[in-house]
Amino acid sequence: MSFTVAIDGPAASGKGTISRAVAARFGFAHLDTGVLYRAVGVKGGDPIAAARGLSAQDLARDDLRTGEAGQAASKVAAIPEVRAALVQFQRDFAARAEGAVLDGRDIGTVICPDAEVKLFVTASPEVRAHRRWLELGGDAGQVLADVRERDDRDMNRADAPLRPAPDAIVIDTSELDAEAAIAAACAAIEARLG
Ligand code: DC
Repeated sequence: MSFTVAIDGPAASGKGTISRAVAARFGFAHLDTGVLYRAVGVKGGDPIAAARGLSAQDLARDDLRTGEAGQAASKVAAIPEVRAALVQFQRDFAARAEGAVLDGRDIGTVICPDAEVKLFVTASPEVRAHRRWLELGGDAGQVLADVRERDDRDMNRADAPLRPAPDAIVIDTSELDAEAAIAAACAAIEARLG
């Protein structure tokens, strides 16, 4: 039996921080699925071929965290064949581990619709842009514009758009620090673990 925690949400909502903390706390394996799309985005060439041929080396590149990689990821993520090529890897990851946390945009809606726990982590665009700016620097106005552009693309694409699953628990981190957000996530998981 595997226990799956699906954590979705927009860029810089805090889902990565929550996912890592939850995985460590419960001893679950963790897959940051954004890395898959980032690796496809930065690889260049035909994104469908890149997604089908993704290697461990592609996933280990050290330029995957940049703002450019995030934008490139968001663009290739709108291509249905790219998404289709990445589905099985993510489902296998969830099934293989006794407990798994997957974070992304469509985990609770498409990849693991039967996940035991679904969380939707969100925050206002301004709060998220501020976090991104603290992390990556640059022009604050441009960082906010980039966050809005990526939200718009991720929420309005036809295939697997970013939205909460009907049974997801929403955690708005606009006014929560990391500790409080992690506590809310752990409480939801503990309630389900019994
Ligand atoms: O979570 P992130 O910022 O690393 O994700 C980068 C982009 O990848 C995001 O803007 C949209 C895409 N993505 C997706 O479409 N589906 C996922 N499960 C994860 C990421």
